[in-house]
Amino acid sequence: MKLTLVAASGRTGGHVLDQALGAGHEVTAVVRNPDAVTAPVRIVRADLTAPDPVALKSAVDGRDAVVSALGPRHNGEYGVASRGTRAIIEAMVAAGVRRLVVVSVAGISTIPTPSRPNPPKRDPGVGFFTRTVLSPLANLRLRKHYEDVALMEHELRVSGLDWTSVQLPLLTDKPPTGHYRMAYEQSVRGGFRIARADAAQFVLRVLGMPETVRHSVAVAY
Ligand SMILES: NC(=O)c1ccc[n+]([C@@H]2O[C@H](COP(=O)([O-])OP(=O)(O)OC[C@H]3O[C@@H](n4cnc5c(N)ncnc54)[C@H](OP(=O)(O)O)[C@@H]3O)[C@@H](O)[C@H]2O)c1
Repeated sequence: MKLTLVAASGRTGGHVLDQALGAGHEVTAVVRNPDAVTAPVRIVRADLTAPDPVALKSAVDGRDAVVSALGPRHNGEYGVASRGTRAIIEAMVAAGVRRLVVVSVAGISTIPTPSRPNPPKRDPGVGFFTRTVLSPLANLRLRKHYEDVALMEHELRVSGLDWTSVQLPLLTDKPPTGHYRMAYEQSVRGGFRIARADAAQFVLRVLGMPETVRHSVAVAY
């Protein structure tokens, strides 16, 4: 496939890039710092806090699909997921490219957004301990990021594109196992983590799974 990979310089994006090239895909990498990618691919420079529509359209023109592993490097960058994804969507609409797979966060489907003002109060994949102890602790630190990612999923839902959001639990840098579970529109029950390498493998698999189009799909061990 001809793929455009946004955030190819990230820890998950780097695995997606390596595995995509290994699988024989032709990749255009969208990064804000071209020096961060050493693989022999076409690179388009784009800072997604101030997206350049012309550069982004040139990055997605003529591609079969776009994959995004975009996210904030630190809490000063919260907001980049929704703003950057909106810009990617606009570029894809302008270029007539339809398939978009983005990395998202497990558990954010209970956060209200303009297209889902009354989301389910509980994620059926989240057990009692996670709901009452782990999630409130994570919320203390990451609530703003979660709200931004929920807004990113809102942008997907109103985009009209053939999107899939891959909702991830805690990411590790352990070696891939090739074994994981998935769940539609809810977290994977008891699935607390996944290696970035396995998450990347799943992201690429999803490109060939039309049944995931216009769905949030969680993946975890
Ligand atoms: N970490 C976890 O445990 C966890 C758990 C669940 C879900 N997730 C989701 O997975 C996402 C990816 O995780 P990760 O660990 O792979 O993240 P990461 O290593 O921090 O990668 C973030 C990527 O986004 C890029 N980026 C950030 N701001 C940008 C901007 N303004 N313009 C262009 N590119 C920009 C970064 O580019 P640079 O290389 O230039 O900085 C980098 O390529 C997270 O953001 C989060 O939403 C993470």
